[in-house]
Amino acid sequence: EKGGFPHFMLKEIFEQPECLTNCMRGRVNVDTDNVVLSAVIDYKKQLLDANRFIIVACGTSWHAGLIGKQMIEQLCRIPVEVEYASEFRYRNPVITSKDVVIAISQSGETADTLAAIQLAKEHGAFIYGICNAIGSSIPRATDTGSYIHVGPEIGVASTKAFTGQVTVLTMLALALAKEKGTISTENYMHVVKELHEIPNKIKTVLQLNDRIADLSRTFTYARNFLYLGRGFSYPVALEGALKLKEISYIHAEGYPAAEMKHGPIALIDSDMPVVVIATHNAMYEKVLSNIQEVKARKGKVIAIVSHDDNTISKIADEVIELPDTIECLEPLLTTIPLQLLAYHVAVCKGLDVDQPRNLAKSVTVE
Ligand code: M6R
Repeated sequence: EKGGFPHFMLKEIFEQPECLTNCMRGRVNVDTDNVVLSAVIDYKKQLLDANRFIIVACGTSWHAGLIGKQMIEQLCRIPVEVEYASEFRYRNPVITSKDVVIAISQSGETADTLAAIQLAKEHGAFIYGICNAIGSSIPRATDTGSYIHVGPEIGVASTKAFTGQVTVLTMLALALAKEKGTISTENYMHVVKELHEIPNKIKTVLQLNDRIADLSRTFTYARNFLYLGRGFSYPVALEGALKLKEISYIHAEGYPAAEMKHGPIALIDSDMPVVVIATHNAMYEKVLSNIQEVKARKGKVIAIVSHDDNTISKIADEVIELPDTIECLEPLLTTIPLQLLAYHVAVCKGLDVDQPRNLAKSVTVE
């Protein structure tokens, strides 16, 4: 049942190219340059008339929501708020019938997310679900939604559900942007084509598995890790840190790279591994200077870079090179090495990767 893999988590990491192809099947059509989500066709008016979107979720699904926010704001110019479901439900939040609430949940059974939906419904908001488990409680409580179709996820640490959620949010942003006229035809076609290429590019990233397994051995000593990224890479930093915490029991924190100097830099010494997502995009130079600041304090830098990077490879301790893609799709590639890093560090420490202590696959109590 693990398909020859030692753990479900590794199997699920390796399944991602196929899962994302399934997720996009019948929805992303490159020949006609079109993205079709039935929910957007059926509920176009509710979605386009919204004053704002509020994304509610927990854990990894909340991280996917942070990426969705950037994508929807950038492509559709609709304001998006991202809320922890557990905070939202108890805050007496402002919700009106002009709001669309997007609930993201792999299991479709997370108690806080379900309660946030009920609250939003009572205030007349329109509810859109992004879930994996077919027929679970959350899809049944929503007005409409899109399944991510990545198949059952068994490993407690969420992997393929995250990339599936980001893929659905990307398709949603593209479909809405086209309807709303906020994206140029040229840009739309470019993103659609690149999105279609992502499963193949993930296959290339997965070839780095042995190399990441090797370097993971070096870092099992660590008590703490920092993960840094900016823009679309900031939620990826949070997600990388969560994966490491969950299965390796190493304390890890994700930060927007520029926030480092507002506090966490005090932690950096020669024992501190710092994972930096430093791909070639608009933020590259800024992140490069953060890396220099870490190195000046003798921190150990593990850099996730674009394939043609000659600068960071000279200063970082470890470099993981990824294929290029457009900035808004980078999370679908940069997340993969961080999943593998967390996996291998935990395996090197002899830990039970699929059933980490104190954690359940779905949190059905608040
Ligand atoms: O099933 P959900 O997506 O609603 O679950 C939300 C979180 O409990 C979940 O993402 C959790 O953080 C994972 N263990 C992360 O790997």
